[in-house]
Amino acid sequence: MKKASLVVLISGGGSNLQAIIQAIGKQYIHAEIKAVISNKASVRGLDYAASANITTHVIEHTQYPSREAFDQAMMQVIDPLKPDLVILAGFMRILSTHFIEHYENRLINIHPSLLPKYKGLNTHQQALENNDVQHGASVHYVNTELDSGPIVIQVVVPVLADDDKETLALRVLKAEHKIYSAAIKMHCENKITFEKNKIQYDGKVLSKPLLWENNTLIQQ
Ligand code: GRF
Repeated sequence: MKKASLVVLISGGGSNLQAIIQAIGKQYIHAEIKAVISNKASVRGLDYAASANITTHVIEHTQYPSREAFDQAMMQVIDPLKPDLVILAGFMRILSTHFIEHYENRLINIHPSLLPKYKGLNTHQQALENNDVQHGASVHYVNTELDSGPIVIQVVVPVLADDDKETLALRVLKAEHKIYSAAIKMHCENKITFEKNKIQYDGKVLSKPLLWENNTLIQQ
Protein backbone atom coordinates (compact mmCIF):
# COMPACT_ATOMS: atom_id res chain seq x y z
CA MET A 1 0.00 0.00 0.00
CA LYS A 2 1.28 3.45 -0.94
CA LYS A 3 2.16 5.71 1.98
CA ALA A 4 -0.30 8.58 2.46
CA SER A 5 1.12 12.11 2.29
CA LEU A 6 0.44 14.37 5.22
CA VAL A 7 0.97 18.05 5.92
CA VAL A 8 0.67 19.20 9.54
CA LEU A 9 -0.14 22.76 10.62
CA ILE A 10 0.87 23.83 14.14
CA SER A 11 1.09 26.95 16.27
CA GLY A 12 2.98 25.86 19.34
CA GLY A 13 3.61 22.96 21.67
CA GLY A 14 3.27 20.33 18.99
CA SER A 15 2.53 17.40 21.29
CA ASN A 16 -0.12 16.11 18.87
CA LEU A 17 2.45 16.40 16.06
CA GLN A 18 4.93 14.48 18.19
CA ALA A 19 2.35 11.73 18.80
CA ILE A 20 1.67 11.49 15.05
CA ILE A 21 5.41 11.29 14.31
CA GLN A 22 5.71 8.48 16.87
CA ALA A 23 2.70 6.64 15.45
CA ILE A 24 4.28 6.79 11.98
CA GLY A 25 7.59 5.59 13.46
CA LYS A 26 5.84 2.57 14.94
CA GLN A 27 4.13 1.96 11.59
CA TYR A 28 0.75 2.36 13.25
CA ILE A 29 0.05 5.09 10.67
CA HIS A 30 1.23 4.25 7.16
CA ALA A 31 2.15 7.72 5.99
CA GLU A 32 4.83 10.31 5.49
CA ILE A 33 4.71 13.86 6.81
CA LYS A 34 5.79 15.94 3.84
CA ALA A 35 5.97 19.20 5.77
CA VAL A 36 5.13 20.92 9.02
CA ILE A 37 4.00 24.51 8.81
CA SER A 38 3.91 26.79 11.84
CA ASN A 39 2.43 30.27 11.95
CA LYS A 40 4.83 31.05 14.80
CA ALA A 41 8.62 30.92 14.86
CA SER A 42 10.66 29.12 17.52
CA VAL A 43 7.92 26.84 18.81
CA ARG A 44 8.60 23.41 20.28
CA GLY A 45 6.66 21.63 17.54
CA LEU A 46 9.22 22.82 14.96
CA ASP A 47 11.99 21.17 16.99
CA TYR A 48 10.07 17.86 17.07
CA ALA A 49 9.68 18.04 13.28
CA ALA A 50 13.31 18.95 12.65
CA SER A 51 14.58 16.13 14.85
CA ALA A 52 12.48 13.70 12.81
CA ASN A 53 14.03 15.18 9.61
CA ILE A 54 10.72 16.63 8.46
CA THR A 55 10.79 19.79 6.35
CA THR A 56 9.52 22.78 8.31
CA HIS A 57 8.15 26.12 7.18
CA VAL A 58 7.45 29.15 9.32
CA ILE A 59 4.76 31.30 7.74
CA GLU A 60 3.96 34.05 10.18
CA HIS A 61 0.41 35.32 9.87
CA THR A 62 1.53 38.70 11.18
CA GLN A 63 3.50 39.23 7.97
CA TYR A 64 0.38 39.15 5.76
CA PRO A 65 -2.17 41.90 5.18
CA SER A 66 -5.19 39.59 5.42
CA ARG A 67 -6.32 36.13 6.47
CA GLU A 68 -6.77 35.27 2.79
CA ALA A 69 -3.22 36.33 1.90
CA PHE A 70 -1.79 34.27 4.77
CA ASP A 71 -3.85 31.24 3.76
CA GLN A 72 -2.74 31.68 0.15
CA ALA A 73 0.91 31.62 1.25
CA MET A 74 0.28 28.33 3.07
CA MET A 75 -1.49 26.89 0.03
CA GLN A 76 1.53 27.70 -2.14
CA VAL A 77 3.65 25.52 0.14
CA ILE A 78 1.05 22.78 0.61
CA ASP A 79 -0.22 22.24 -2.94
CA PRO A 80 2.99 20.98 -4.60
CA LEU A 81 3.14 18.31 -1.86
CA LYS A 82 -0.27 16.93 -2.93
CA PRO A 83 -1.26 15.83 0.58
CA ASP A 84 -3.91 13.18 1.15
CA LEU A 85 -4.65 14.88 4.45
CA VAL A 86 -3.97 18.32 5.92
CA ILE A 87 -3.85 18.01 9.70
CA LEU A 88 -4.55 20.89 12.06
CA ALA A 89 -2.64 19.99 15.22
CA GLY A 90 -2.99 22.80 17.72
CA PHE A 91 -3.16 25.29 14.83
CA MET A 92 -4.67 28.38 16.43
CA ARG A 93 -5.78 30.39 13.40
CA ILE A 94 -9.22 30.55 11.86
CA LEU A 95 -8.95 29.50 8.21
CA SER A 96 -10.62 31.29 5.30
CA THR A 97 -13.50 29.65 3.44
CA HIS A 98 -11.28 29.54 0.35
CA PHE A 99 -8.64 27.48 2.18
CA ILE A 100 -11.22 25.12 3.70
CA GLU A 101 -12.96 24.56 0.38
CA HIS A 102 -9.63 24.06 -1.39
CA TYR A 103 -8.80 21.13 0.93
CA GLU A 104 -12.37 19.89 1.06
CA ASN A 105 -12.67 16.31 2.37
CA ARG A 106 -9.02 16.17 3.41
CA LEU A 107 -8.78 18.68 6.25
CA ILE A 108 -9.00 17.41 9.82
CA ASN A 109 -8.84 19.02 13.27
CA ILE A 110 -8.69 18.06 16.91
CA HIS A 111 -10.60 20.07 19.47
CA PRO A 112 -10.27 19.78 23.26
CA SER A 113 -13.94 19.33 24.15
CA LEU A 114 -16.86 17.01 23.61
CA LEU A 115 -18.23 18.93 20.64
CA PRO A 116 -20.72 20.46 20.08
CA LYS A 117 -19.97 21.63 23.64
CA TYR A 118 -17.43 24.43 23.99
CA LYS A 119 -16.47 25.44 20.50
CA GLY A 120 -13.63 27.97 20.31
CA LEU A 121 -11.15 28.72 23.09
CA ASN A 122 -10.85 28.09 26.86
CA THR A 123 -12.66 24.78 26.80
CA HIS A 124 -11.07 23.41 29.98
CA GLN A 125 -11.95 26.54 31.95
CA GLN A 126 -15.55 26.31 30.75
CA ALA A 127 -15.86 22.64 31.70
CA LEU A 128 -14.63 23.48 35.23
CA GLU A 129 -16.86 26.55 35.60
CA ASN A 130 -19.88 24.48 34.60
CA ASN A 131 -18.96 21.74 37.10
CA ASP A 132 -18.93 19.16 34.32
CA VAL A 133 -17.99 15.70 35.53
CA GLN A 134 -16.98 14.68 32.03
CA HIS A 135 -14.90 16.52 29.49
CA GLY A 136 -13.01 15.20 26.49
CA ALA A 137 -11.82 15.70 22.95
CA SER A 138 -13.14 15.36 19.42
CA VAL A 139 -11.52 14.75 16.04
CA HIS A 140 -13.58 16.22 13.24
CA TYR A 141 -13.32 16.94 9.56
CA VAL A 142 -13.30 20.64 8.86
CA ASN A 143 -16.12 22.45 7.14
CA THR A 144 -16.69 26.18 6.88
CA GLU A 145 -18.34 26.51 10.31
CA LEU A 146 -15.92 26.81 13.22
CA ASP A 147 -15.46 23.53 15.16
CA SER A 148 -18.64 22.18 13.60
CA GLY A 149 -17.58 19.65 10.98
CA PRO A 150 -18.71 16.02 11.29
CA ILE A 151 -17.02 14.23 14.20
CA VAL A 152 -14.97 11.09 13.59
CA ILE A 153 -13.93 10.07 17.12
CA GLN A 154 -14.61 11.36 20.63
CA VAL A 155 -12.99 10.42 23.91
CA VAL A 156 -14.50 11.11 27.32
CA VAL A 157 -12.11 12.28 30.05
CA PRO A 158 -13.26 12.47 33.68
CA VAL A 159 -13.05 15.80 35.53
CA LEU A 160 -11.57 15.15 38.98
CA ALA A 161 -12.55 17.05 42.11
CA ASP A 162 -9.14 18.68 42.51
CA ASP A 163 -8.60 19.53 38.82
CA ASP A 164 -7.51 22.96 37.73
CA LYS A 165 -7.43 23.92 34.08
CA GLU A 166 -3.80 22.80 33.71
CA THR A 167 -4.29 19.31 35.16
CA LEU A 168 -7.47 18.84 33.17
CA ALA A 169 -5.84 20.10 29.94
CA LEU A 170 -2.98 17.65 30.38
CA ARG A 171 -5.31 14.68 30.89
CA VAL A 172 -7.31 15.69 27.81
CA LEU A 173 -4.13 16.21 25.77
CA LYS A 174 -2.95 12.65 26.49
CA ALA A 175 -6.28 11.34 25.24
CA GLU A 176 -6.08 13.61 22.18
CA HIS A 177 -2.85 11.95 21.11
CA LYS A 178 -4.55 8.56 20.95
CA ILE A 179 -7.69 9.56 19.08
CA TYR A 180 -5.88 11.79 16.59
CA SER A 181 -3.51 9.01 15.59
CA ALA A 182 -6.42 6.56 15.36
CA ALA A 183 -8.41 8.89 13.10
CA ILE A 184 -5.42 9.70 10.88
CA LYS A 185 -4.63 6.00 10.56
CA MET A 186 -8.19 5.29 9.41
CA HIS A 187 -8.12 8.15 6.90
CA CYS A 188 -4.79 6.94 5.47
CA GLU A 189 -6.21 3.41 5.10
CA ASN A 190 -9.42 4.73 3.51
CA LYS A 191 -11.37 3.12 6.34
CA ILE A 192 -12.97 6.50 6.82
CA THR A 193 -13.66 8.99 4.08
CA PHE A 194 -15.36 12.35 4.10
CA GLU A 195 -17.54 13.49 1.24
CA LYS A 196 -20.56 15.76 0.84
CA ASN A 197 -20.30 16.67 4.55
CA LYS A 198 -20.73 13.04 5.62
CA ILE A 199 -18.26 10.53 7.04
CA GLN A 200 -18.26 7.02 5.61
CA TYR A 201 -16.91 4.34 7.93
CA ASP A 202 -16.22 0.99 6.31
CA GLY A 203 -18.37 2.14 3.40
CA LYS A 204 -21.41 3.15 5.52
CA VAL A 205 -22.47 6.60 6.67
CA LEU A 206 -21.30 7.20 10.24
CA SER A 207 -24.33 8.64 12.01
CA LYS A 208 -22.67 9.05 15.45
CA PRO A 209 -19.00 9.64 16.29
CA LEU A 210 -16.90 6.61 17.12
CA LEU A 211 -16.03 6.42 20.83
CA TRP A 212 -12.54 5.71 22.15
CA GLU A 213 -12.74 3.59 25.30
CA ASN A 214 -9.98 1.46 26.84
CA ASN A 215 -7.80 1.97 23.78
CA THR A 216 -10.53 0.59 21.51
CA LEU A 217 -12.89 2.17 19.02
CA ILE A 218 -16.56 1.59 19.68
CA GLN A 219 -19.34 2.25 17.22
CA GLN A 220 -22.34 3.82 19.00
C1 GRF B 1 -4.59 20.81 21.97
O1 GRF B 1 -5.42 20.72 23.11
C2 GRF B 1 -5.41 21.01 20.73
O2 GRF B 1 -6.59 20.25 20.73
C3 GRF B 1 -5.74 22.47 20.82
O3 GRF B 1 -4.54 23.07 21.28
C4 GRF B 1 -3.79 22.13 22.03
C5 GRF B 1 -2.44 22.07 21.36
O4 GRF B 1 -1.69 20.99 21.67
N1 GRF B 1 -6.26 22.98 19.60
P1 GRF B 1 -0.32 20.63 20.94
O5 GRF B 1 0.23 21.87 20.26
O6 GRF B 1 -0.59 19.53 19.96
O7 GRF B 1 0.57 20.19 22.06
